[in-house]
Amino acid sequence: MTAQERFFACRAEEVPEGERVLCRLDGKSVGVFNVGGEFFALHNRCPHKGGALCEGPVTGTTVPSDDFDYVYGRAGRLIRCAWHGWEFELETGRSLVDPSIRAKTFGVVVEDGNVYVLI
Ligand code: FES
Repeated sequence: MTAQERFFACRAEEVPEGERVLCRLDGKSVGVFNVGGEFFALHNRCPHKGGALCEGPVTGTTVPSDDFDYVYGRAGRLIRCAWHGWEFELETGRSLVDPSIRAKTFGVVVEDGNVYVLI
């Protein structure tokens, strides 16, 4: 495993809750997302066919219910790929349909209002 470097991505106040910024860091396109005040970073490259994952909508999904209703949950915690709609958890990069498929995530450090991505 190679040592990680941290790269300045943005100021925290530039990314309101529910929003994202796209940055080019260490030659990679990276999406930095504010999910309820927590920051997560994903490679803007979908594991399906390399699409612009981070340019799709931030969304939720239907969640199990006891009475066979459609219940919407996990709002703002998922990203739907801009190309074909595969959905991934922003926090882990895990695919909703097949947890063995993961989008690449990066660690994030917020320090003095600066958001850094560990690559
Ligand atoms: S490239 Fe992302 S769903 Fe196909």
